[in-house]
Amino acid sequence: MNLKQMVGIEAATHVKSGMVVGLGTGSTAYYMVEEVGRRIKEEGLNIVGVTTSKATEAQALALGIPLKSIDDVTHVDLTIDGADEISADFQGIKGGGAALLFEKIVATYSNKNIWIVDESKLVVKLGQFPLPVEVIPYGSTQLLNLFATKEMAPTLRRKENGDIVKTDSQNYIIDLQLDQIDSPKELGTWLSSLPGVVEHGLFLDVVNTVIVGRENGPETIQ
Ligand code: 5RP
Repeated sequence: MNLKQMVGIEAATHVKSGMVVGLGTGSTAYYMVEEVGRRIKEEGLNIVGVTTSKATEAQALALGIPLKSIDDVTHVDLTIDGADEISADFQGIKGGGAALLFEKIVATYSNKNIWIVDESKLVVKLGQFPLPVEVIPYGSTQLLNLFATKEMAPTLRRKENGDIVKTDSQNYIIDLQLDQIDSPKELGTWLSSLPGVVEHGLFLDVVNTVIVGRENGPETIQ
């Protein structure tokens, strides 16, 4: 079993019948969703899922997980999601899979958030992983220029075939190579203030539980 699978299965043990569960996106969350689907089929687990991307929605539907939109639930009890980087003080970068907007909305309305990662994602300070910023297409070249003048090494995210990546909301992603983020809150506030920026991948004060996949087993850090 690989580390992502290990933490996905461990995280699914936090899911209890009666819960509304936010289902994250990415290759680690994938295993959690599979395990929730298995428990529904084999153990009679009874939950409602709220997905954070079209990809997770397709996976959950194929597994027979009952789903509702974030707009059709009163609250989300627990969201389990992956992350791209987690600092020592539990701040995170997400959006490597371009799902940051829905992920942040679902996380914001969740009573509890758990992140599941392999140990390579734990860092002292955020910033080695390029910070994703979701922007609307109109004005995106101006934003790229602005970020370049601030030496943020922006790149417009493209697929291998050169096509521009579009998010589930048909927006673009600009990745900022910052190397080290000294003041994540200040940076997040500035990014949010820019016209055309829909959301950024700094997930601040979102989680208090992280499940880390280590060679000798999953470790829950709180
Ligand atoms: C998608 C995300 C993912 O949760 C993040 O990229 C981690 O993905 P993976 O588990 O595949 O490494 O934020 O937008």
